[in-house]
Amino acid sequence: MNGFRGQVTLDGPSGTGKSSVARDVATRLGAAYLDTGAMYRAATVAVLDAGVDLDDPEGIARAVAEADIEVGTSAETEVVLVDGEDVAVRIRGTEVTRAVSPVSAVPAVRRLLVERQRALVAAAEAVVVEGRDIGTVVLPDATLKIYLTAAPEVRAERRAGQLGVTDPARIAHIAADLRRRDAYDSSRADSPLRPAADAIVVDSTGLDRAAVVERVLDLAGTAVRDPA
Ligand code: DC
Repeated sequence: MNGFRGQVTLDGPSGTGKSSVARDVATRLGAAYLDTGAMYRAATVAVLDAGVDLDDPEGIARAVAEADIEVGTSAETEVVLVDGEDVAVRIRGTEVTRAVSPVSAVPAVRRLLVERQRALVAAAEAVVVEGRDIGTVVLPDATLKIYLTAAPEVRAERRAGQLGVTDPARIAHIAADLRRRDAYDSSRADSPLRPAADAIVVDSTGLDRAAVVERVLDLAGTAVRDPA
């Protein structure tokens, strides 16, 4: 469906296939794409490189404010730069994944990144934005809000598949890590992970990626025909 104008928000926990769905939907809509998780991950690189303790929220906020963080808005090419350095691969590694929850829980970090997210969204006529608080906090007036979920075991298996892991003990470890991050992200005081009151919950447990994409595209068509 080309000719879409507006914002689609895609929130939900990790391992639901959110990123691949968001990218595909953006491509099919001819829309820009913003991965806000990549922004929090890039901010985490800045914190780690500054040598700041993860128990020091002021130090974290300072390191993020001082860094030059750039995240692209194309569904086809991923651009993630910190102080001019390409960190697109590094942000997916274990070191950053472990540290990103405490960094993203710091209110001053969220304020800064939310402001940048809104500026990037304002520059696009059509955009798909994925994250945890996009429908609740960043874009409360978005055209369409989707909250993507899936059963925890399915999410752990998908993540294991992406990482090429087949050993059941390691899959159990991945499941435990997902639960730990979900609990942290859902219980933090500032912008916890939860569906917006007007979000449509899509459960991808029994659906493949293509089916989820079609469902979101259908909903986008309806949202444009029946603006709230
Ligand atoms: O989607 P992801 O796994 O790349 O996100 C990385 C972390 O960033 C995740 O643990 C929660 C945080 N995050 C957030 O707090 N708010 C967002 N809008 C996006 C991500």
